[in-house]
Amino acid sequence: MRDLLFVNAAQVVTCAGPARARKGKEMRDAGVLKNTAVAVSAGRIAMIGAASDLVHAYSDAEVIDCRGGVLTPGLVDSHTHAVFGKPRFEEHELRAEGLDYMDIAKRGGGIHASVRDFRERSEDELYNLAVPRIKELASYGTTTLEIKSGYGLSIEDELKALRVIGRLAERQPLRIVPTWLGAHEIPHEYRTSEERRAEFVDLLIDSLLPKVVEQGIARFADAFCEPGVFTIDETRRILESSRHAGLGIKIHADELKPYGGAELAAFLNAASADHLAAISDTGIEALAESDTVATLLPGTMLFLGKSKQAPARALIDAGAAVALATDFNPGTSPTVNFPLMLTLGVSQLHMSLGEVLVSATVNGAAAVRLAGETGQIAPGFAADLALFAIADVRELPYWYGARLCVGSWQAGAPCHPYEAGSKLNVRPPEVVPAG
Ligand code: NIG
Ligand code: FE
Repeated sequence: MRDLLFVNAAQVVTCAGPARARKGKEMRDAGVLKNTAVAVSAGRIAMIGAASDLVHAYSDAEVIDCRGGVLTPGLVDSHTHAVFGKPRFEEHELRAEGLDYMDIAKRGGGIHASVRDFRERSEDELYNLAVPRIKELASYGTTTLEIKSGYGLSIEDELKALRVIGRLAERQPLRIVPTWLGAHEIPHEYRTSEERRAEFVDLLIDSLLPKVVEQGIARFADAFCEPGVFTIDETRRILESSRHAGLGIKIHADELKPYGGAELAAFLNAASADHLAAISDTGIEALAESDTVATLLPGTMLFLGKSKQAPARALIDAGAAVALATDFNPGTSPTVNFPLMLTLGVSQLHMSLGEVLVSATVNGAAAVRLAGETGQIAPGFAADLALFAIADVRELPYWYGARLCVGSWQAGAPCHPYEAGSKLNVRPPEVVPAG
């Protein structure tokens, strides 16, 4: 693999610092450098410094001309459900008419609709549906992508989901992290009585989990802990067994109602507690005192038409580590645009520029326990990089909805294709004040 030398960036955003989640005030500084070049050797960041110095040290390297753009760590999207069959656009309109997410689920829509569809599709079909969606995710600057199962909800269909994620990890240029979300919903066939419901939880723990672990096809276990879905006790049983079997832990916590999911995540030392739009004050305190990352998904609340967003400010001010992610899924967040989450981070969650950048890189990496590998441009880290057609990183959340990424690399290999010589500046021309 040839060395690479990135030159002519207007800014390099390093996010350099300790290889762990940044908490509270630590999130403010993303480290924005000017007149800086970045050298990559054997897929890792080798040196950062003045171009004049690096050009000599790396005279054989392939030179990547950043043409006045901004170079950042590749974005880490630590919460997605990117493997699914059909989209669910009909529910969007039903919500506009006044039905809410849980009403739609009770009528057999929501996750249940995706499960019925998923079970009918073959592994090849699901893989082929996922590939273009993943390319779209990469085209916005994401180089690390967590993907959950959770639309199978039977032994065979959950293993099928994780095999599809495994194939994507092998064949697609992104770094993909597989999560087993067998506890995404109680499937219809187990909703007929309390005994049947308990049987489903037992099936997850006694039959499915051992297969997932034996086949080595997941790094994390996750559960949707919410009134009407999995209770605190069920979530705890499932996740304690998963942790005991060697998996990391995540929780869909306090999304719609305060339920104690954040407290449970902190108690279990989970890698992350996700959603948190309805987190309580004790939940905020518990996360602030823990190493669990609070992963906020502002696209979901926006798309569901909720006026309430997760209390990012209170979490950060209390000293918690916050990550942002897309939650890309067919029901509540059908977006592939990670920078748009940064826009919502600033505009809706009242986060600063430094905070949204750290939350999309270092803290996303910590949420998938990869803070020692990716999420910063610092010597020794994987060369996971994204190049944006902007001259100032503040433009990344500013031109909202735009696709500004013009190239990305994962471990030094092209991820979203960079076209040498292509037009870089997609911004409207600067307005020069008259007179
Ligand atoms: O993170 N909240 C539960 N799970 C997903 C939604 C999945 C779906 O509706 O298909 C979420 O929002
Ligand atoms: Fe989710």
